[in-house]
Amino acid sequence: MAGPDAWLLAFRSAAVARSAAPGQFLLVRPPDCSRAMLRRPISISDVSGDRVELLFRVAGAGTRSLAGLTPGRVIDIIGPLGSPFDIVPGPVRHIAVAGGIGIAPLRFLLRRIRARRLPVTLCYGCRTKRELVPHCAVDRIVATDNGSCGIRGLVTTALSRAVDSHPGAAVYACGPWPMLRETARICAERGLSCQVSLESRMACGVGACQGCAVKGTGSYLTVCKDGPVFDARTVDWDQEPPT
Ligand SMILES: Cc1cc2nc3c(=O)[nH]c(=O)nc-3n(C[C@H](O)[C@H](O)[C@H](O)COP(=O)(O)OP(=O)(O)OC[C@H]3O[C@@H](n4cnc5c(N)ncnc54)[C@H](O)[C@@H]3O)c2cc1C
Ligand code: FES
Repeated sequence: MAGPDAWLLAFRSAAVARSAAPGQFLLVRPPDCSRAMLRRPISISDVSGDRVELLFRVAGAGTRSLAGLTPGRVIDIIGPLGSPFDIVPGPVRHIAVAGGIGIAPLRFLLRRIRARRLPVTLCYGCRTKRELVPHCAVDRIVATDNGSCGIRGLVTTALSRAVDSHPGAAVYACGPWPMLRETARICAERGLSCQVSLESRMACGVGACQGCAVKGTGSYLTVCKDGPVFDARTVDWDQEPPT
């Protein structure tokens, strides 16, 4: 376990490790479940050598079966899939904003930003200190609902402070829809680059079924193929959150 409610699953795959980019995901077949159960999308949370990590919260039957995996088992995956985060070039501060298990794809992004020796800050929000999960050491501002670690309140309050200290920053976010919407608003108000990783129920995972579509400011966007990472300005934030 990586926290009271979070599981870290590590496996070796040279093929995935070689081609994975931060923000991409795998479709994972839940082990020990009916073959009729759809594969579940899980972000690539970190890569080191040929070791790949997935970090997930148990939400239902599929993720519960993943949490029950024992060492030595083989898992059935498709990927890497989807469009990754694009690390903004230039001498700017990079600010990652994570809400809860939204830290998952950002761990890998932080590793890649650090490898380029770029300045980075993590704004990390959780309900309590117990929910914080391990990630690489970077400058960070933590926000918890109950004040048990860092500032008491929303991670977007931490983000506002961070962007005001770093004009021109590039922002990358993953977390619940209301957090992403507020992150997009804060960045739009200041004219900052903002990339968000969205979640939606998936079936095919490759843009064929439209099952994961969300409203964009122009046309509909598939989370699996056009995303999951989008420029925040291309998402219609007035829609109901995708389920
Ligand atoms: C691109 C992408 C990357 C993701 N990465 C991660 C990750 O790194 N770690 C992680 O913990 N979770 C991640 N998720 C969410 C994860 O896919 C769902 O929690 C999982 O599919 C639930 O399956 P289940 O069988 O356990 O639960 P189910 O019984 O299928 O559903 C239980 C609950 O989870 C919700 N849910 C189901 N599927 C999704 C979904 N695709 N997105 C959001 N909510 C869903 C349902 O609405 C329901 O309330 C990601 C989702 C997407 C689309
Ligand atoms: S899951 Fe089929 S189009 Fe995205």
